[in-house]
Amino acid sequence: MISRRDFFKAVSGAVAVTAAGHPLLTSAADDADIIVPGKEGMIVQSARFLDLEMPAEFMDAWITSVPHFFVRNHMHEPSSLDAGEWRLAIGGEVDRPLTLSLADLAKLESHTVTNTLECAGNGRAFQQPLVPGVQWRKGAVGTARFAGARLRDLLQRAGVKSAGKHVMFRGLDEIPGKVPAFIRSIPLEKATDADTLVATQMNGAPLAKHHGFPARALVPGWIGAVSCKWLTEIKVLDKEFEGNFMKPGYRMPNHPIAPGGQVNPDDTHPITALNVKSVISRPEEGLLLKSRTVRVHGAAWAGESDIVRVEISSDSGATWQTAQLGKEQARYAWRLWQYDWKAPKAGDYTLVSRATDSQGRTQPQTAAWNPSGYLYNAIDQVKIHVA
Ligand code: MTE
Repeated sequence: MISRRDFFKAVSGAVAVTAAGHPLLTSAADDADIIVPGKEGMIVQSARFLDLEMPAEFMDAWITSVPHFFVRNHMHEPSSLDAGEWRLAIGGEVDRPLTLSLADLAKLESHTVTNTLECAGNGRAFQQPLVPGVQWRKGAVGTARFAGARLRDLLQRAGVKSAGKHVMFRGLDEIPGKVPAFIRSIPLEKATDADTLVATQMNGAPLAKHHGFPARALVPGWIGAVSCKWLTEIKVLDKEFEGNFMKPGYRMPNHPIAPGGQVNPDDTHPITALNVKSVISRPEEGLLLKSRTVRVHGAAWAGESDIVRVEISSDSGATWQTAQLGKEQARYAWRLWQYDWKAPKAGDYTLVSRATDSQGRTQPQTAAWNPSGYLYNAIDQVKIHVA
């Protein structure tokens, strides 16, 4: 029988397994012993298609290092990628279809965007009742400096026809069996925003393979799913792309639905920008505090909006205190925050955080339940005990 070691080598290339000889099971619990080179310390949600979550305590850096940046793959990563042979085709509703090499891209003006990238399913594990899908908790999110050509410069060169309304991205994922390809599109307006990129760099270095080498779309402020990795084709369409990952995938109900309820796909809309959200990164759940004071840390983000306030409560929301926001900020990036909390007396406490953004949105007590658990953004909480 093929060992787990050989199996994962075969399917994921870069994934190594510490315990060999187990049956071919791919449950999240079984994958927990897998070490991914360059991604040590990450929570392995899945090794078949690599899904790595950042433990919340790594959220203490404004810029997430590449080793700590989460990975979300719907299928196998491309097994071989030759930067010299790689090409990006731009076609569809354009006057001059183009094919660009990496060297061609490098000749274009480079623009840098510091962006918080969050998977639409981040926090899904907290939905009640539970929903199927990768059981992300807090860490399918990270912030990086992405750099590359502006997509609008490429589209200008190709000359978008008046019929062009949406821009579709295709990656080089290796598709297992007959499942639909991971293809999505965004409206032309967002595609031609000055901050939407064909990124080739992340934190000052060429993109790592797990993050889309040699080039990925970077659609700032929007759910991670729109930022297509291993980009090989950009196609201008006269309407939104129709496919599994546009519908029923990545859509929210048009109206609130009762937890556990069903939704008609025709009564949904595609998810675009991220919600307002904060998470507590420290102290960790279950901490036994020997003194009365603890510094509470976390991060807060709001997609295309700015964070204006983060508040902390330790009395079930009866009173709220304002946390101090970190100095580092950028249009689409999270704000780190901290608050020095003092326990009035010994006992059990639940510390909660809630963020408010420049649109006036405040994190709700309970997230809007939906069958795929998208955009979970309820106020975060950590239980601690003060001795
Ligand atoms: N692009 C391709 N080609 N294939 C994918 O599976 N996953 C998307 C997006 N781009 C994906 C993709 C999703 S759902 C997310 S959240 C982000 O990539 C994650 O980016 P990261 O793995 O660099 O963190």
